[in-house]
Amino acid sequence: MTAHPDYWNRIYEEEGRPGWDMAGATPVLGEALSLASVLGLGPEAAIVVPGCGYGHDAAELNARGYAVTGLDFAPLAIQGARARYGDRIAWSQADWFTTQLGPWEAIFDHTCFVAMDPARRPAYVDACAYHLNPHGLWLAVLFHDVQGRPGPPHAIPMETCRALVEPRFEVLHLAHATTSHPRRAGREFLMVARRRQD
Ligand SMILES: C[S@@+](CC[C@H](N)C(=O)[O-])C[C@H]1O[C@@H](n2cnc3c(N)ncnc32)[C@H](O)[C@@H]1O
Repeated sequence: MTAHPDYWNRIYEEEGRPGWDMAGATPVLGEALSLASVLGLGPEAAIVVPGCGYGHDAAELNARGYAVTGLDFAPLAIQGARARYGDRIAWSQADWFTTQLGPWEAIFDHTCFVAMDPARRPAYVDACAYHLNPHGLWLAVLFHDVQGRPGPPHAIPMETCRALVEPRFEVLHLAHATTSHPRRAGREFLMVARRRQD
């Protein structure tokens, strides 16, 4: 059900501001970019934000000088992003598993991987590899603890994440996030992974 845009679009329609929406970029974005810049991600690099929702993270990346694509398959998410942040960002209503846009130099993934049904995780990892340049970076903010609630989001233990990702990516950083929003403190981790050459 969560594989279909209607599932998400209905939540945007019914709730207006869904529970996951932080009304601003995640503070962990800065933490991720500090690591990425040491790894050579330049300030004008092309970055995609899959499952961008209302576009807060994409807008923050744009403000920091990156060439950003905000992508979401729910029409109301993209409408809301465009209404908030205008057309200086490339918004795309597309399915991450099938889009032919890209490739990009980096992915900033905040609550998209963890929104997937766990059965779709291997295909999601393949999609991330497909959408990146060789040696491109996947920066992901993930939950290891969802306080026992049924997903989405689905918690993923750090080592489960590493095992899933390693066939296609070299995991360069995998650690508890240190700058989480207070509502999420102690429950998030940050992964930085580099695409392996095919
Ligand atoms: C939990 S929300 C998070 C939104 C945003 N990242 C945020 O933190 O506010 C997950 C988002 O991923 C989108 N999404 C889920 N599966 C997707 C897919 N296959 N392709 C594109 N977007 C997808 C949903 O429409 C939804 O907007």
